Amino acid sequence: MWDYSEKVQEHFFSPRNAGAVDDANAIGDVGSLSCGDALRLTLKVDPDSEVILDAGFQTFGCGSAIASSSALTEIIKGMKIDDALGVSNQDIADYLDGLPPEKMHCSVMGREALQAAVANYRGEEWKDDHEEGALICKCFAIDEVMIEETVRANGLRTVEEVTNYTKAGGGCSACHEGIEEILTRILAEKGETFDPNAVAGEIKKPKSGLTNLQRMKRIEELLDEIRPNLQRDHGDVELVEVDGRYIYVKMIGACAGCQMAATTLGGIQQHLAEGLGEFIQVLPAEELARRAAMEA
Ligand code: FES
Repeated sequence: MWDYSEKVQEHFFSPRNAGAVDDANAIGDVGSLSCGDALRLTLKVDPDSEVILDAGFQTFGCGSAIASSSALTEIIKGMKIDDALGVSNQDIADYLDGLPPEKMHCSVMGREALQAAVANYRGEEWKDDHEEGALICKCFAIDEVMIEETVRANGLRTVEEVTNYTKAGGGCSACHEGIEEILTRILAEKGETFDPNAVAGEIKKPKSGLTNLQRMKRIEELLDEIRPNLQRDHGDVELVEVDGRYIYVKMIGACAGCQMAATTLGGIQQHLAEGLGEFIQVLPAEELARRAAMEA
């Protein structure tokens, strides 16, 4: 498992300023709910002094996204909005005593939400600032430069490895072709050929202290806890597979194909992550089939 600082874990298990701010006059939305990874930042700004009086966040992201959002709100409360705009994603990571390189995109998402919220406060239109390179993965707001740098620095060779390191490609899969093009180009620079059937390096398995069987049972128990809410809406969820930090589920009944399915998955992910005390990712069963097909 990645090496998360004590502070990341503390902000994950006890996030500060979770939820929307009452009477917010600045709202910043980034990421995509359709892929289960999104952040909404709400601010209450004093119109006279332009000081941020209160800040709150709502996110369907992973544990690092929760910790990064929590840290961001703590950093910017009490700052003037001009000063808050100077907060970099590195500042967020530093506040948390560092983030694993694979999770730096969570701090980037926080910084972008802040820019979006300030633009909203000022009545301006905010656009994703990806001047450095084209936005490749819309679900996780990962641009070409970030993918290229990560591929080069880590010698990545497969789409799955890129997903493990950057999260790009871990949602709707629409960007897989773009990631393959980047891999093809970078490998060609080294005189190598991209092989779409290459097997990714071993995924690091999380250390939960539980045996595999105990962990499966715990996941079932946690799903049982949220099942009544789903059944009330004539839906359900079924555990399909557990592969390290990836937990595959099938949405059933009214939950299948529901427009809010991604949001529901996000809620399930958060519940399982909290219950297991691990950074896990809940994915739809179709993703398992897709990965299996790629490896076939
Ligand atoms: S655009 Fe959806 S996973 Fe990349």
